[in-house]
Formats: sequence, C-alpha cells, structure tokens
Amino acid sequence: MQFTLLASAFALAATAIASPSSYGEKCVTQKQADHIVSQVINIFGHLPNVNAANKTAQALLSSDFTEYSDSILSLQSRPLTGDGLTADKAEWIAGIVGRPGIDGIETLYTSPAGCHEVVWFFSFNNLAAATYRVRGFNLITLNSKNTQIKKLELEFNSIAWGLDDGELPCNFTAKA
Ligand SMILES: *[C@@H]1O[C@H](CO)[C@@H](O)[C@H](O)[C@H]1NC(C)=O
Ligand SMILES: *[C@@H]1O[C@H](CO)[C@@H](O)[C@H](O)[C@H]1NC(C)=O
Repeated sequence: MQFTLLASAFALAATAIASPSSYGEKCVTQKQADHIVSQVINIFGHLPNVNAANKTAQALLSSDFTEYSDSILSLQSRPLTGDGLTADKAEWIAGIVGRPGIDGIETLYTSPAGCHEVVWFFSFNNLAAATYRVRGFNLITLNSKNTQIKKLELEFNSIAWGLDDGELPCNFTAKA
C-alpha cells in the first residue's frame, strides 16, 4: 500500500515534469476569436468613434506588437526583406487611427488556428474607388493568455487595392 502510493506520487511528478508548458494552457475559443476580429474591425473602421478605436487598439495590441505584409510592401514598391512594417505599436496605431477610417469590412470566415492564432478571411468592400472588393487573410498571433495581439501577418489582393486607391504606378483599365 505504502509502496503503491509512493509509486503513484512519483508517476504524477514525472508527468508534471514531462509537460510543464502544457499545464493549464488554454487554447483560443471561437468566441474569443470572433471578439478579437470584431475589435480589429472597430480599429480599422474607427468605430464607434476615433478615440474609442484608439483605446481599443492600445488595449488590444501587446507592447511588442509587429505586423508583416508582403502585400503592403509590394504596393509601396518596397523590398520584401521580411522586416516588420512598422517600428512599433505606436507607429502602427498612428497609421490606422491617424488616417481616415475604413468602412465596409466584411468577415467571410474566422477560426482559431492552433492554441494562440486566429485566421481571419475578410473582404474590404468599400475601399476608395471601390471598383474591386479586396479579399485577403490575416493570421493573428495572440499572447499566451489570448488577450492581446502580438503579431499580424496580412496578405491580400494588393492589385485590387492598388487599382481602387490609385497606388499602382501603371495605367490599365480596371473592370469589376
Ligand atoms: C491615441 O492614444 C495615444 C495614447 O493616449 C495618444 O498618444 C495618441 O496621440 C492617440 N492617437 C490618435 C491618432 O488619436
Ligand atoms: C490611361 O490610359 C487611358 C487609355 O489609354 C488614357 O485615356 C488615360 O488618359 C490614361 N490615364 C493616365 C492617368 O495616364
């Protein structure tokens, strides 16, 4: 009896040591994923107003926040170095909150992707001239508690975006 108790105590200890990082780890839920995405849409759209969007962004992004996007670098004719788009969280917020809001953002699909990522498939339907809708994906990486965004990896139809807002340095006729 004594030996059995001791043996199971050792067995328990061994289990705990074998997987310390998975102990108590909580994976992001669909509800949390939907909430994160609705906050991101509110930041882009300046909803319900620009100050509220700023507050949402300050709370939602982690202090070490970064964003990556070959689509945006391509639109801006910048090299695809793999570097982050903005120096830090403050610069990103200034770029989104400090410019006109973007409305007409439609969610096509949102899902947890692993424990700390969310995949968001979206359509920007009202961008500038809005000749084209702009569809794309954002892979959102959260912190270990799934409360803040650490990283955005955003890829989208940047040709459509460039045709809508005139950013593309070429002249050809767009047909929706
Ligand atoms: C957003 O809030 C921060 C912190 O309060 C402030 O420093 C910044 O100027 C605000 N940005 C805009 C665009 O309102
Ligand atoms: C673009 O091309 C069209 C057709 O060739 C021409 O009519 C138009 O003036 C051009 N626009 C610009 C901004 O160069």
